[in-house]
Amino acid sequence: MSSFKPLVFSGVQPTGNLHLGNYLGAIRKFVALQESHDCIYCVVDLHSITAQLVHDDLPGQTRAITAAFLASGIDPKKHIVFNQSRVSQHAELAWIFNCVARIGWMNRMTQFKDKAGKDRENASLGLLAYPSLMAADILVYRATHVPVGDDQKQHLELTRDIAAKFNNDFSQKIGELGLGVEMQAGDETVNGYFPLTEPLIDGPATRVMSLRDGTKKMSKSDPSDLSRINLTDDADAISKKIKKAKTDPEPLPSELGGLKDRPEAENLVGIYAALSETSREQVIAEFGGRQFSVFKPALAELAVEKLAPVAAEMRRISADRAYVDAVLRDGGERASAIAERTMKDVRDIIGLLDD
Ligand code: AMP
Ligand code: TRP
Repeated sequence: MSSFKPLVFSGVQPTGNLHLGNYLGAIRKFVALQESHDCIYCVVDLHSITAQLVHDDLPGQTRAITAAFLASGIDPKKHIVFNQSRVSQHAELAWIFNCVARIGWMNRMTQFKDKAGKDRENASLGLLAYPSLMAADILVYRATHVPVGDDQKQHLELTRDIAAKFNNDFSQKIGELGLGVEMQAGDETVNGYFPLTEPLIDGPATRVMSLRDGTKKMSKSDPSDLSRINLTDDADAISKKIKKAKTDPEPLPSELGGLKDRPEAENLVGIYAALSETSREQVIAEFGGRQFSVFKPALAELAVEKLAPVAAEMRRISADRAYVDAVLRDGGERASAIAERTMKDVRDIIGLLDD
């Protein structure tokens, strides 16, 4: 009995500027995984209309995220880069998953609660169903591994729940059609059509915090631009934001445990570790006992060294719109071919006539 071929999938929404959190929590991992896995990276434009339907420049935002992927080192020839709406099978499988998932599962999602705010009745139905489209993004390729930041963990658990319920509800049909694949679920070996996808959430920067408040996540939507380092910031802006970052008056501790209850210090140490590809322990070994007046300039220099070339490359690639569009078109065609194979199976499993 074969098991699923390892395949990486992840997505980023085309809303607002990409920031250091997106880069360290997600995009840099996308780049690294290309060495060991086949990868599919998607600009999830259909997700971006769930919170707000009308955007000033959705095509421009989609191209900007694509340029950021390419500038960071994603290879669109060896792997696949495309925008979600081009491959209509995502929306088709999402509809099926809307019928697999339960309303209660969706109501429990913290991202839904945060984004819908107090007036939940007035949130779009798409915002509630968002995780079901995300599950479809992943499972339409039967992807096995998904690199994301810590905030997406709950959505990936739900993706496993949807896969498991589908596999279970249709187990007989999947068996009859010979479409089952064996996989490991904890200590058990189970059989199903969809894999139980593994989240890849690790390293020192799975949750990069705001530079103005170490208890809040760095986010595209924070009104203060000083709270985040944008991937498009130039060297001066990067240095200024790090030097102005909120800190406490104490020097850095000499032990990792000393970062407890010091969220701003902990965040900057995590950022340094991620950018220098070391660990928090190593950063503390180097800077323990030093003042922020020493640590911040070192961090600013490191951040400029690592990020400024990405920003410059993003500008260069963005200037060539025809190239960016060609990447998305080619990626979309290759993604569609895989997605349609899955949808044919899914229609057969469910009993939807298609030829
Ligand atoms: P989004 O911009 O919400 O589409 O997020 C794109 C990716 O960046 C997802 O994998 C998120 O988990 C990740 N991400 C977003 N904000 C942060 C953050 N502050 N720290 C780490 N990862 C993040
Ligand atoms: N929900 C993710 C975010 O906000 C974006 C996303 C959509 C995604 N579909 C995905 C991430 C599939 C990983 C896999 O960050």
